[in-house]
Amino acid sequence: MKKTMLMTAAALALTAVAAQAQSNYPQRPITMVVPFAAGGPTDVIARIVGDHMSRTLGQQIVVENVAGAGGTTGMTRVSSATPDGYTIGMGHMGTQGAAPALYPNLKYDPTKDFVPIGMAAGTPIVIVAKKDFQATDLKSFVDFVKANSAKLNMAHAGVGSVSHTTGVLLSSVLDIKPTMVAYRGTGPALNDLMSGQVDFMTDQIVNVAPQITGGNIKAYAIATPERSPALPEVPTTKEAGLGTYEVSAWNAIFGPKALPKDIQTKLVDALDKALDDDNTKKRLLELGGVVPDKKDRGPEALQKLVEAEVARWTPVLKAAGVVAQ
Ligand code: MLT
Repeated sequence: MKKTMLMTAAALALTAVAAQAQSNYPQRPITMVVPFAAGGPTDVIARIVGDHMSRTLGQQIVVENVAGAGGTTGMTRVSSATPDGYTIGMGHMGTQGAAPALYPNLKYDPTKDFVPIGMAAGTPIVIVAKKDFQATDLKSFVDFVKANSAKLNMAHAGVGSVSHTTGVLLSSVLDIKPTMVAYRGTGPALNDLMSGQVDFMTDQIVNVAPQITGGNIKAYAIATPERSPALPEVPTTKEAGLGTYEVSAWNAIFGPKALPKDIQTKLVDALDKALDDDNTKKRLLELGGVVPDKKDRGPEALQKLVEAEVARWTPVLKAAGVVAQ
């Protein structure tokens, strides 16, 4: 009897301590896992929203780049992290939508093994090439790659990444087979594009906009129905004669499975406040990022989006016959 009472008292004490820890969350810096190399689009978005979220939460959000396997290495780390709120991650359309179709042994189910926090930014896709690429507009680009694809290479950030998935989609729309060159992120891929070591890629606008504006790479079209205010000179694929290629990506914050509700709520609130902040919005918009409307923010909208993306990309990628080795 005495032993049972002691154990109950201990259990109650432990629950009280856990509840206290949750209500005092956060009490130390929070790690934001970015599943790609530093300097790329996902890293840039994580640092921009992380800056303001740190102020709201009263603790630093520290970015940790855990690259590999198209971002699935880092997101595996997030899905299996201790659910105490001190490890969260910035996933995206690739890691949460395309990966299941490409990784037969994926260690997470994007629709079940994460607690969604919210969308951070939409990222339209731009078709870009090295500065001396032999085409002046999208039509001549399409003609050139169709005639020479076996001699050309396309950069991407690993199987299942956004640049890979949207690159595979472009290849199937144009019926081309360029050599696919994998990097740990489109940050380093962009460096090689600028130095002419790779020929072209399809990348998220927030990564390439400054280099397009700076004239360091060529942009042929943006794959959204409307032009981007950040790149008013760049035509849409529809305007430029390739309306069959329209695709946009997104980056969003996720917590590990079983993250307590009140910690989720604090993170959701901090992200929402960041996206309402004028300076945060300005930094995202200047790079061509799309700040999600209120209705597209929050965990419910994100959960629905993840389920829809898995359903959308699986048949497309299966049809393209792409599987991670
Ligand atoms: C990155 O941050 O490097 C990208 O999100 C990679 C990609 O998915 O293309």
